[in-house]
Amino acid sequence: MLLTHIILLSDINNYNIRFLILECLFFVKLSYMKHIIITGASKGIGLELAKLFSIQNHKVIALSRNTSHLKSLSLDNVTCLDLDITKEEQNNILNNAIKNVFNNRVDILINNAGLLANSSFNTTSLDTFKSVYNTNVYGVVNMTQQALPYMNNKSHVVNISSMGGIQGSMKFAGLSAYSSSKGALITLTELLAEEYKETGPSFNVLALGAVQTEMLEQAFPGFQAPVTAEEMAEYIANFALTGQQFYNGKILQVSSTTP
Ligand SMILES: NC(=O)c1ccc[n+]([C@@H]2O[C@H](COP(=O)([O-])OP(=O)(O)OC[C@H]3O[C@@H](n4cnc5c(N)ncnc54)[C@H](OP(=O)(O)O)[C@@H]3O)[C@@H](O)[C@H]2O)c1
Repeated sequence: MLLTHIILLSDINNYNIRFLILECLFFVKLSYMKHIIITGASKGIGLELAKLFSIQNHKVIALSRNTSHLKSLSLDNVTCLDLDITKEEQNNILNNAIKNVFNNRVDILINNAGLLANSSFNTTSLDTFKSVYNTNVYGVVNMTQQALPYMNNKSHVVNISSMGGIQGSMKFAGLSAYSSSKGALITLTELLAEEYKETGPSFNVLALGAVQTEMLEQAFPGFQAPVTAEEMAEYIANFALTGQQFYNGKILQVSSTTP
């Protein structure tokens, strides 16, 4: 659309007016373009989010421990960072990118990275419990603390939780570490929304049902989810861009089946 406008501009003879219109179009584009951080963007839902925001012309920092596949796609406006959200010593990688790529402004943080363990409670070691909580809870704390100084009252933090973390939802054997960590994430989101309600950003959490990804296959081998990663990414992207106008501190259950 911008291109059409520019072509039509060539019909305008007055150079000053042409320049002014071009400048206006540039600022419209800048204010439309959101600065979005996606964690866990190497595969599954996070990867589809990165692709979608790139097509929509937003500026994205996409991170996970190994982004080689994502990098090979050379998506427009997407900066890939190899970063483990649980490792504080790697925080400078994100901080540098926020400064250099985003010019110190973050509009949206999608805490999507997640880790699942599927084993009976008795055989789940304390180390496994800790690594699941490290990613699903402390990793979210870490990423949120890094992004907060660059966010404002219009910004939006979207945490990706699970139906298993909802109190009273159907529970499944083998998912004690995973689902309890996702429950903690839900409560954390409510607390942060309260703590930042005067200044922003807004905090909301999406409790997802089954989505066809590697993680689902690990949790429920052979189960066919009704929703693809691409379809779920479309829902999350739209919510991340607009949800803060209508929600703060809310838990939305994005699920039509069990599991
Ligand atoms: N799929 C479902 O049915 C379902 C249902 C409910 C909720 N969810 C939630 O939706 C989110 C996305 O799930 P998914 O199904 O797309 O999972 P997935 O395909 O397994 O992808 C998980 C992503 O998280 C990244 N990740 C894991 N640990 C990380 C760490 N320490 N630091 C940085 N990145 C890390 C992984 O990349 P690297 O390995 O490269 O780090 C990967 O990109 C998760 O939070 C999950 O709990 C999924």
